[in-house]
Amino acid sequence: MTLGATPLLEGRFAVITGASRGIGRAIAESFCAQGANVIASARVNTDDFHAWAKQLNITPFALDLADEDSIKSAIKSIRTAAPQGIDILVNNAGAPHGALFQMTRLADLREVFEVNLFGQIAFTQGLVRLMGPKKGVSENSAIINMASTAAMIADPGTLAYGASKAAFTRATESMATELGPQGIRVNAIAPGVTKTDMLDDMDPTAVEKLVASSALKKVATPEDIANAALFLASDLSTHITGQILRVDGGII
Ligand SMILES: NC(=O)c1ccc[n+]([C@@H]2O[C@H](COP(=O)([O-])OP(=O)(O)OC[C@H]3O[C@@H](n4cnc5c(N)ncnc54)[C@H](OP(=O)(O)O)[C@@H]3O)[C@@H](O)[C@H]2O)c1
Repeated sequence: MTLGATPLLEGRFAVITGASRGIGRAIAESFCAQGANVIASARVNTDDFHAWAKQLNITPFALDLADEDSIKSAIKSIRTAAPQGIDILVNNAGAPHGALFQMTRLADLREVFEVNLFGQIAFTQGLVRLMGPKKGVSENSAIINMASTAAMIADPGTLAYGASKAAFTRATESMATELGPQGIRVNAIAPGVTKTDMLDDMDPTAVEKLVASSALKKVATPEDIANAALFLASDLSTHITGQILRVDGGII
């Protein structure tokens, strides 16, 4: 493929979760700008979300990853919106959680894993059937999972969130080995500190420490992460799978 006037995702069908705000919204806007037909979720389909989707010609759907029925009906809505199949799935939605080890209740741990791991697996299992060249869609199908540097860096207070993202990172590698032969690439992005609402849930001292320890010494924008997602979704990365791309300003 050549880099030219043709948009990078011209005519591709892309599903993006957690597009009500933050990184997911930036990815949806970037994919739209690159010619994709975007199908995007919010947990609750508010008027604001619908207005935003309508303006960009995005097909909205509701998805709560903690709720099995919601996952099933989301998969049904996507089948209806894209009966020919989908080319790209961005599993961006995720739940934050901060608590010290001794203060982490098992119920909270289960809840975080429900959203950041189990729900993601169930949703992806349902959608994989709509992906891959055999379905007559793109020769370059891609799944992008949103992990975190918290999967690799063990700061105090990150047990549940970090462990759930570490598990999701490992799941990405397993999925890549099994789905590669079906023509589906699976990669993860591990953002560092990124300027979204999620930052409000993080300990400010830990945030400062992380940013100070990075080579670039700055917080990422949602667009920084969206650019990495665009690369992994497009034909610029056709031979890349099973990778965890850290977009963290160089925490080395
Ligand atoms: N910001 C950071 O510094 C950072 C760093 C590393 C990784 N990440 C990861 O990047 C991804 C996007 O985060 P963000 O920073 O953009 O956060 P955000 O602004 O808080 O957005 C989170 C998104 O996930 C959705 N979500 C939360 N719980 C959900 C559930 N149970 N089911 C379905 N959707 C749910 C939210 O929907 P509602 O609007 O309905 O709540 C929202 O759309 C997450 O996976 C996060 O873990 C973020």
